[in-house]
Amino acid sequence: APDISVDAVQKDLKELQSVAEDNGGNRAHGEPGFKASIDLVKKKLDAAGFKTDVQEFDGGGTKGYNLIADWPEGGSADHTVMVGSHLDSVSEGPGINDNGSGSAGVLEVALAVSKAKLEPGKHLRFAWWGAEEQGLVGSQSYVDSLAQDDVKKIDTYLNFDMIASPNAGYFVYDDDASVQKVFKDYYKSKDITTDTSPEVNGRSDHASFADAGVTVGGTFTGAGDTMTEEQAKSWDGKAGEPFDSCYHSECDDISNINEKALDVNSDAMAHAVWELSK
Ligand code: PHE
Ligand code: CA
Ligand code: ZN
Ligand code: ZN
Ligand code: ZN
Repeated sequence: APDISVDAVQKDLKELQSVAEDNGGNRAHGEPGFKASIDLVKKKLDAAGFKTDVQEFDGGGTKGYNLIADWPEGGSADHTVMVGSHLDSVSEGPGINDNGSGSAGVLEVALAVSKAKLEPGKHLRFAWWGAEEQGLVGSQSYVDSLAQDDVKKIDTYLNFDMIASPNAGYFVYDDDASVQKVFKDYYKSKDITTDTSPEVNGRSDHASFADAGVTVGGTFTGAGDTMTEEQAKSWDGKAGEPFDSCYHSECDDISNINEKALDVNSDAMAHAVWELSK
């Protein structure tokens, strides 16, 4: 898999920060900054040759949007690998780690697929979800919109929510052992110790897929929980402090990013996409 440029991911994050600044300080469901975020990501995907679709849903009486991007090359959609991240923030702030980080990483991996003119054995579909912060509403509405036969065609769903927490942990979802191994092999090759996190369970968009019987996986750098002594030793972090002290706050801005974690996780994502779509 190619090396994803962390500078490119950072540039996308700066653009998402500007979107928030131009729209009242956030990118939340129902607010103008969310739709502007969708438009920004869609434009880049369209220019790279993806077939994009903005799907509307009802999120608590307010219109929500999911952005779906299909890569036209490769195998039949009977075997699909999906990669997703939520693009909405909370209303308290710009949501750059949660979840500009996952959104920008997934975007750069999609653009790398285009640049490589990848012809995977499976079909590749990328998604940016709305209204995750309202309770996984966008991803659940997407899964609900699929016929049972189409749910079965999704071989794997990979989720990325918070991949650059300032006091970063390197967590791999433990839902499926074989997907977990693909990520763990990558971190091992970079001499990075991984762990599992109880914070992950059922708390991001992969749960919408897992509940429907889809095999899921992903990576995470921690939210409001506190890093243990042992973890701090493995990751050169700060014991007794949250992974992200700006979690769901106004200060989750462009300065709230651990660039090493952003880089490693974007590269791990590319590795998993290349491996699992073969
Ligand atoms: N979904 C949570 C949020 O957006 C945080 C989270 C990220 C939980 C990743 C699990 C996995 O606030
Ligand atoms: Ca990189
Ligand atoms: Zn959140
Ligand atoms: Zn999140
Ligand atoms: Zn690789």
